[in-house]
Amino acid sequence: MIQGLGIDVVSVERMRSWLNDEALLARYFHPNERKAVAGRGSSAVPALAARFAAKEAFGKALGTGLQGLSLRDIEVRNDELGKPELVAHARAALALRERSIEKVWVSLTHERESAIAVVVLEGAS
Ligand SMILES: CC(C)(COP(=O)(O)OP(=O)(O)OC[C@H]1O[C@@H](n2cnc3c(N)ncnc32)[C@H](O)[C@@H]1OP(=O)(O)O)[C@@H](O)C(=O)NCCC(=O)NCCS
Repeated sequence: MIQGLGIDVVSVERMRSWLNDEALLARYFHPNERKAVAGRGSSAVPALAARFAAKEAFGKALGTGLQGLSLRDIEVRNDELGKPELVAHARAALALRERSIEKVWVSLTHERESAIAVVVLEGAS
């Protein structure tokens, strides 16, 4: 059963301005995300923007926003076919356990100017 739904849009240009700010990237992105997008050439910036949107969408799906959560604990990774999956760590994982969420669904898209993410939280009841 669906327990939560969130959507967010992020400006790709805004994300470009973060690229040379190591502290900002370390604050908002999981080390695995930074490693994964580093090898993506020109699609690195839209990929980061979409991942940032996923973090905000996750907060909306929880219904609390990102209050009390660290954005870097909300990781988006891709499977071998490129499908994104959202992996929650630390307090983000706790927030899911508290709500008995068993599955997180995420979908990303990016164009030249904007990146968008949708997150669905699914639980047994
Ligand atoms: C909930 C949150 C994610 C909203 O994101 P936002 O980018 O400020 O705003 P958006 O324009 O994307 O979305 C606004 C909509 O979110 C929805 N929203 C607001 N609070 C919400 C909540 N607790 N749960 C779900 N949806 C919420 C509302 O529908 C709102 O639109 P409305 O006021 O017209 O109804 C935001 O409050 C939040 O937690 N932000 C944390 C930001 C942060 O830590 N950023 C890192 C530094 S840049």
